[in-house]
Amino acid sequence: MNQGKRVGIIGAGNVGATVAYSLAMLGSCHEIILRDNKLDVAKGKALDMSQAASAVRSHTVVRVAETMEDLLDCDVVVITAGSPRLPGMSRDDLLMINANITKDVIKGVAKYSPNAIVVMVSNPLDAMTYVALKESGFDRSRVLGMAGILDSSRMAAFIQEKLGYGGGQIRASVMGGHGDDMVPLPRYSTVAGVPLTDLLSEKEIAEIVERTKHGGAEIVAHLKTGSAYYAPAKSTAIMVEAILKDTKQIHPCAVYLDGEYGYEDVVSGVPVMIGANGAEKIIEVTLNDAEKAMFKNSCNSVQQLINTLNKNKFFEDK
Ligand code: LAC
Repeated sequence: MNQGKRVGIIGAGNVGATVAYSLAMLGSCHEIILRDNKLDVAKGKALDMSQAASAVRSHTVVRVAETMEDLLDCDVVVITAGSPRLPGMSRDDLLMINANITKDVIKGVAKYSPNAIVVMVSNPLDAMTYVALKESGFDRSRVLGMAGILDSSRMAAFIQEKLGYGGGQIRASVMGGHGDDMVPLPRYSTVAGVPLTDLLSEKEIAEIVERTKHGGAEIVAHLKTGSAYYAPAKSTAIMVEAILKDTKQIHPCAVYLDGEYGYEDVVSGVPVMIGANGAEKIIEVTLNDAEKAMFKNSCNSVQQLINTLNKNKFFEDK
């Protein structure tokens, strides 16, 4: 018994719980284990979701890990733990707080689920993916950050809104880090295969690009007490499903670059083929000079965060 897949989710706040709910509704795994310091909240949500799973005749059971030891032998671990981004707070403000939380939880993951693929969700996303990789000691193929699917989905939604048609047929492409200098790529965005550049004016595309870059902040400004979670959670669930089902689909994900695109020892969002082994292949897209400059800018921002961590001797207590 119990040869089915097990997914651990650390942090049962809005994003973590919605990832769990999404996976439970799909019946993608046998078991989902929620871990949160607010144990009672996690227990309540786990019961509620298991009951929802029964309602749709999904076999997935959602339960709670009382301690990190209970997060045992997971196939995939999603890390959403961290302080949320509040209004006026940049993703970077969260750096030191969330780096320490990530360091703490990833050590437990490495110990109790040593074969897991890790999907990082906490912000600032690219730097936290770097921290998770360094502190886990895992191969880089086993630590992926979720951002590109989210940012591309936002861009696609904005394209649909601008066009007034094309819903469900839009493929938008965003590379780079999950920050204000992410790299939306209109040249690689299409509506039913038709290049975006044939459908909208330069000005309209520029508006979409700008709105995409601030897509997260736009939602924070409305919600006031927190950040987005439906699209972030669904984007995360898409990655988890691709791993569990070994789909070999290509999605933009944050991964550690080791020479790809000319960058080393930094994490950035690039197209990745996802399968049972995690990031199985990094795809190198041809970028023009302007796109290369934007990508460089984005990598430099992530590098600065890593430099800040190094300056604070963050990695030196191993
Ligand atoms: C966003 C936050 C979660 O983009 O980074 O919505």
